[in-house]
Amino acid sequence: MSKLFFAALPLFILSTLADAYVNNCRSYCGNITIDYPFALRQGCGHPGFRDLLFCVNDVLMFHISSGSYRVLEIDYAFQSLTLHDPHMSTCDTIVLGSKGNGFAVDHWRAPYFNPTADNVFMLIGCSAQSPLFQGFPGQHLPCRNVSGMGCEEYYGCPAWSLVGRKGVGKMFGSGPPECCAVAFESIKVINLTKLQCEGYSSAYSLAPLQNDGPSEWSYGIRVKYSVQGNDEFCRACEATGGTCGYGSDGVRQLCMCGNLNSTSNCDSG
Ligand SMILES: *[C@@H]1O[C@H](CO)[C@@H](O)[C@H](O)[C@H]1NC(C)=O
Ligand SMILES: *[C@@H]1O[C@H](CO)[C@@H](O)[C@H](O)[C@H]1NC(C)=O
Ligand SMILES: *[C@@H]1O[C@H](CO)[C@@H](O)[C@H](O)[C@H]1NC(C)=O
Ligand SMILES: *[C@@H]1O[C@H](CO)[C@@H](O)[C@H](O)[C@H]1NC(C)=O
Repeated sequence: MSKLFFAALPLFILSTLADAYVNNCRSYCGNITIDYPFALRQGCGHPGFRDLLFCVNDVLMFHISSGSYRVLEIDYAFQSLTLHDPHMSTCDTIVLGSKGNGFAVDHWRAPYFNPTADNVFMLIGCSAQSPLFQGFPGQHLPCRNVSGMGCEEYYGCPAWSLVGRKGVGKMFGSGPPECCAVAFESIKVINLTKLQCEGYSSAYSLAPLQNDGPSEWSYGIRVKYSVQGNDEFCRACEATGGTCGYGSDGVRQLCMCGNLNSTSNCDSG
C-alpha cells in the first residue's frame, strides 16, 4: 500500500507543478483577450506573430507592411480576426486620395495571414492603366461579386451620391469601372499605389447573406490566421503546463516553464 502511495506521489506533484507555472503571456487590450499565437510581449506567442499587435490606450492595433489597423475582434475558435482601417470606404463614406492601407503583409509573414474567401475588396477609382485592367483584354475583367457582395450593390450606398460619382463608366469599353470588386485570392496584394486606385472598401459576410443590401454588410477586413502545420510544439508545451513563446532570434520556439525555458516541453528540462 505504501509502495503504491509513493509511486503515485511524483505524478501528483508533477501535475500540480504543471498547473502552477504562471502564464505571463496571456493578456487583455480593452475587452479583447490576447492569447497564443498572438501576444503583446516580446518572446510570447508564435514567432510568426511577433511585432504584430500593439495595445494603445486600450485600442488593439495590428501592424503589417501596408499599415496599422484597429482590431475589432479576435475569434480564436474560427482562427480569424476582424480589422478596421479608418481610411477605408464604407456605405456612409467614400474616402479617396489613396489614403487607405489596402492589405499587404511582409513576405515572411504571408503564410500566417490571408483575408477570408468571403471577404470582398472593392477597389475604387482605379486608373485605366491599373495592373487590374491589364492582361484582361475584352470582357475578361477580374471584377466580380464575392459572397453575393459586389460593386453593383455597393453603388446603391448613400456615400456615392455624396461624392457625386455614382457608377461613372461602370462598363468596360467606356473606360474602367468606377468600382471593381475582387477576392483577395485573385490578386494577393491589395496595394492602392501599385493598383493605381483612389480608395477601397472591404466587407465580409459571417452568415449566409440574406441580401439586405450594402447598408447591412459588415465593413472591415476579415483575416484568417494560421500557425502553419499542426503546431505540435506548442501543444506539447501547454500539455506540460508551459507557455509557448520564442527565443531572442525571433525564430526558435520556446516553452516557458516558470524559471526555466525549454526547447521542447516542461517535462524535459
Ligand atoms: C468590446 O467593446 C466594444 C465597445 O467598446 C463593443 O462594441 C464590443 O462588442 C465589445 N466586445 C466584446 C467581445 O465584448
Ligand atoms: C525565457 O524566454 C522568454 C522569452 O524569450 C524571456 O523573456 C525570458 O527571460 C526567458 N527566461 C529565462 C529564465 O531564460
Ligand atoms: C505598394 O506599391 C508601391 C509601388 O509599387 C511600393 O513602393 C510599396 O512599397 C508597396 N507597398 C507595400 C506595403 O507593399
Ligand atoms: C452580381 O453582379 C451582377 C452584375 O455583374 C449584379 O447584377 C448582381 O445583382 C450581383 N449580385 C449578386 C448577389 O449576384
